[in-house]
Amino acid sequence: MTASLPVFSRPSLGPLEAAAASEAVLSGWVAAGPHLQAFEEAFAARCGAQFGIGVSSWTTGAFLVLKAWGLGHGAEVIVPSLTFIASVNVIRHVGARPVFADIDPLTFNIDPAAIEAAITPKTRAIIAVDQIGLPCDMHAIRAIAEKHNLLLLDDAACAVGSLNQGRPVGSLAPVSVFSLHARKVITTGEGGMILTDDAELAERVRRLRNQGMSLSALERHNAGPTTFESYPEIGYNARMTDIQAAVGNVQLARLDDLITARSAVADRYNARLAGHPLLMAPHAPEGMTPNWQSYQVTLKQGGLAQRNALMEQLHAAGVGTRRGVMPSHREGPYAESAPPLPHTEFAADCCILLPMHAEMTPAQADAVMDVVDRCAP
Ligand SMILES: Cc1ncc(COP(=O)(O)O)c(C=O)c1O
Repeated sequence: MTASLPVFSRPSLGPLEAAAASEAVLSGWVAAGPHLQAFEEAFAARCGAQFGIGVSSWTTGAFLVLKAWGLGHGAEVIVPSLTFIASVNVIRHVGARPVFADIDPLTFNIDPAAIEAAITPKTRAIIAVDQIGLPCDMHAIRAIAEKHNLLLLDDAACAVGSLNQGRPVGSLAPVSVFSLHARKVITTGEGGMILTDDAELAERVRRLRNQGMSLSALERHNAGPTTFESYPEIGYNARMTDIQAAVGNVQLARLDDLITARSAVADRYNARLAGHPLLMAPHAPEGMTPNWQSYQVTLKQGGLAQRNALMEQLHAAGVGTRRGVMPSHREGPYAESAPPLPHTEFAADCCILLPMHAEMTPAQADAVMDVVDRCAP
């Protein structure tokens, strides 16, 4: 019997997460508190970093890091265009200028040589992205950052649990920021996590997250009646709630199982795409272990029209898809300042995301591929 077709994406949340959320709700402490502290420590330990700072999203987390670094008007930050637009928007949020670098045509991650070519006297930082969970070449990128004295943020929004030469994403860059949005491998609905080994940066970002306040809510709660907080600088509200963190703790404990389930689906897709005349499976270089946050296939020939036609056909046959990773430089706010990005243009026109989530079975991956084979013979 053929397996049913899966939905495109769904979070893997069950009774354990529901019980954790319920416990937090009933505890009377729902804002940032003990669950958040535990989540930050567990997340940092799992990803090989010293400090974790839980925030309301990747976007607010990365914004706080760029703020803490003092980036603003006049600064340039190198970033791929082929990324969710948040990676680029955050540069503008602090008043700095995004400078696009093209991608490697095999991995679709930012190309270290393109980063080096984009450096100018105004360059202050690099945002490298582990796109859809495939680690970027952080060793090469870190060497460039060190050589040119640039700040480096790993946009690990999609990459929790991914490995680069056996080392977890989160332990490879001076600072890494993760997303916990519902489309990610683990989720707290919305949310984010900043990881770093830099105690000073961690302290600063922790303060900026909480209106610049010198004490956390938990510290104030446990302090004497005349211990008053101070506000040495202007901050923001980017806090994660304890309800979210309680769910996050359960999700984090399930991370290995969730990645195993996704990998089984990816293995089926990869096997079915070997030698496919029209479609190419994603490429993971030797030593890179993705978490399969998404599964992206590439049309070997054709372009936007053929890609969109195939998506329509798949949709009509019951397979939900999305376009591949977006090209930010084709969007209004960034269109005018983009340099030529040939590999980005190709990927933007020729990629499709197939259904991928931890509750899919390999048999469902086969059912998807049966439809794909009918639509793209
Ligand atoms: C590469 C990348 N960066 C940043 C983000 C933004 O994350 P958030 O929605 O948590 O702000 C996403 C979300 O999809 C992403 O894929």
